[in-house]
Amino acid sequence: MRTSLVAILFAFAFTMAAEEPARWPALRRYEPMAVPADNPLTRAKVELGKQLFFDKRLSGDSSTACTSCHRPANGLTDGRKNPVGSYGIASGRACPTLWNVGYQQAFFWEGSATSLEQAVSGVWTYILVPKGPGRATPEDVIARLNAIDGYRAAFQAAFGEPATLTNLPRALASFLRTLVADRSAWVRFQDGDRAALSPQARRGFALFDGKARCTQCHNGVLLTDLQFHNVGIGSQAAKPDPGRFAITGVEANRGAFKTPTLLNVGRSAPYFHDGSVATLEEAVDVMAGGGLRNPHLDAALKPVALTLAERSDLLAFLRALDVDAEISQPELP
Ligand code: HEC
Ligand code: HEC
Repeated sequence: MRTSLVAILFAFAFTMAAEEPARWPALRRYEPMAVPADNPLTRAKVELGKQLFFDKRLSGDSSTACTSCHRPANGLTDGRKNPVGSYGIASGRACPTLWNVGYQQAFFWEGSATSLEQAVSGVWTYILVPKGPGRATPEDVIARLNAIDGYRAAFQAAFGEPATLTNLPRALASFLRTLVADRSAWVRFQDGDRAALSPQARRGFALFDGKARCTQCHNGVLLTDLQFHNVGIGSQAAKPDPGRFAITGVEANRGAFKTPTLLNVGRSAPYFHDGSVATLEEAVDVMAGGGLRNPHLDAALKPVALTLAERSDLLAFLRALDVDAEISQPELP
């Protein structure tokens, strides 16, 4: 079966308040993360959330864990253009990395969710436990977890109650907030250790920040301005994904998507919200080419002529943005 998950996520998006957020500043360094007052971080929640993140029993048909798509080995993405979830349903959008997701202000490619708890709850109910005749409901999955002694005890320890529809996303969100990519060559470079990047990667950064003007959007320590831009990807489709327009209703936002972080970009192919570009070389060519022409193309994007040597330097910089961290597999109850 192949239904577009995008449609489902849009339906979800429309149920939320359509408000134009203020402009969020790009993160200059790893600051303390803002955590909602009703879900303070505790070790018990983080450990429980990590187990849940790896557990296929969270999906209706017990086939899919969060890590089936957000795979630790692939920079927390899954290498597929259309990731497949529970009941064999394929998504119409590519899987974003979850590194540093706790610093995001709006979630999903068009920013339809405005808290991490809301985003997790949306993914869990729409991707892991999609509605359908004969399928398990979210309530069934909660009952399944509460029937497992280890989980019942862990929820009790973390929240003082058994698993519920509310505390399950809270535990997962708590774990996701610990995925901070603050150890990497890029971070050491930003902190002033020039030798953290090779001379070629340093030349690449000079282009990225200079002539190629990539830092207009990919800026700060996360290499994203956390804003939405139309770079033309998907605009040639028969029925283009409206992107940010679905949330704001502002015509200029048609086909605009969230600027992705470029951390781990060497490991997170395929690229762009629709996974339409298979290699990093091609993705860089699209961006350096000024994006794909369409009526809503962001005015900040201008074609830049790169020599072959400059193109290799830029690619060397992007390939140096790997996150140095391993996420160990937890023991499940
Ligand atoms: C079938 C593959 C798949 C599975 C399984 C999956 N995700 Fe995702 N996830 C995606 C895709 C695709 C998106 C982007 C959706 C969009 O923007 O429309 C996404 C987006 C997200 C986001 C928003 C990230 C951002 O930067 O905006 C979060 C948070 C998230 N997922 C968490 C989870 C959690 C927690 C689980 C397990 C409960 C999970 N995901 C399971 C594919 C998956
Ligand atoms: C006007 C803002 C803007 C500028 C300038 C810009 N980008 Fe982007 N970039 C984006 C947005 C938005 C996306 C996601 C678009 C989508 O998926 O539809 C993106 C996606 C990418 C991706 C794919 C990442 C992924 O995980 O899928 C790469 C690689 C990339 N940009 C590199 C560059 C490079 C290199 C430059 C400079 C030549 C650059 N970008 C300039 C906004 C920008």
